[in-house]
Amino acid sequence: MTDCIVVTGGAGFIGSNFVLQWLQHEGGRVIVLDKLTYAGNPANLGAADTGRYELVCADIGNRSVVDALLAQHKPRAVLNFAAESHVDRSIHGPGEFIQTNVVATFSLLESVRAYWLSLPESEQQAFRFLHVSTDEVFGTLGPDDAAFSEATSYAPNSPYSASKAASDHLVRAWHHTYGLPVLTTNCSNNYGPLHFPEKLIPLMILNALEGKPLPVYGDGQQVRDWLYVEDHCTGIRRVLESGRVGETYNIGGCNEQKNIDVVLTVCALLDELSPRADGKAYSEQISYVKDRPGHDRRYAIDASRMQNELGWRPSETFATGLRKTVQWYLANPEWVANVKSGAYRDWVEKNYTERC
Ligand code: NAD
Ligand code: TYD
Repeated sequence: MTDCIVVTGGAGFIGSNFVLQWLQHEGGRVIVLDKLTYAGNPANLGAADTGRYELVCADIGNRSVVDALLAQHKPRAVLNFAAESHVDRSIHGPGEFIQTNVVATFSLLESVRAYWLSLPESEQQAFRFLHVSTDEVFGTLGPDDAAFSEATSYAPNSPYSASKAASDHLVRAWHHTYGLPVLTTNCSNNYGPLHFPEKLIPLMILNALEGKPLPVYGDGQQVRDWLYVEDHCTGIRRVLESGRVGETYNIGGCNEQKNIDVVLTVCALLDELSPRADGKAYSEQISYVKDRPGHDRRYAIDASRMQNELGWRPSETFATGLRKTVQWYLANPEWVANVKSGAYRDWVEKNYTERC
């Protein structure tokens, strides 16, 4: 094995933040394996040290490409961020979610298992497959229910969460049956720089600035446990370094917020940092819209295993993290314009079509 890691989905929101953080704090090479769907953007990795990272455009389900990539680079770990990740898209079209999150993840596990079996025994022991998952696999909580722990039963409610739950079960089984050294993390909602603007927080920031309505689903009283993306990435690094093989780790922000309060906080930050020309409050743009079908009411993570076993805790509060996030979107109009215009999609087609 070499001092190299493979990061699947590394051109997406969390994966790219992870790669940038890794290159800043850890040694060795990083191979990003990403299909570059609508959510994958090579520009997210623009700040990466090009001498130490390489982007390979391929599907995690492409057995021959993934087998060859693992044989060539001999990574000490594979971290799987690749997924279809948007609940609303999963409601409109679940097929892609089953394909990537279940079928292609199965194929990736088989590629990784074959590579792992080819290693000498000492290297087999050191190798890790880390699977990045979500708290949504646990379903929904009532207002007074205890937060999700690692012992909470799976009860997914959306096509997205069901497909992620299926992938978590496959990962578990590949450890239990074949001995593959796996780690799984289940994290709450992330926010921060490089977040594709169809998810709640970046959508609200950009719609507000463009004078568009801010669409709040249903009564806006749904609760999510928000974690700044860099804190998620430090948690994943900690699990990779010291997590117990075969275990799952719940990562969360200890920061439950109602959707409407998140939107109001975004509006207040924008009122301060980029006031409307007419002097009115951005909150005037809030518009309640039809609810999401099957909308989970509340998510909350009990992250005590991360704290007690691995000494991890978030370093950003919601106030500091959200301020940084709003400031990042205000400071990066070019990234926003590219993503929104689809210009980067054209570039991806031009630059990568022949490589895929
Ligand atoms: P994202 O949609 O921004 O990025 C996903 C990336 O995976 C994209 O770069 C995309 O091109 C790539 N991809 C998709 N299908 C692929 C395939 N078949 N082969 C190779 N690459 C493929 O998602 P994200 O928000 O960065 O989430 C990353 C992971 O973290 C996902 O597994 C998600 O379930 C999990 N997660 C997300 C959150 C959140 O709040 N965003 C919270 C907890 C867990
Ligand atoms: P989202 O960012 O899609 O994450 P998830 O569904 O995975 O939690 O949505 C976060 C919450 O915000 C969720 O309860 C749905 C809600 N929401 C809205 O109210 N309006 C919107 O336009 C979007 C995209 C989400």
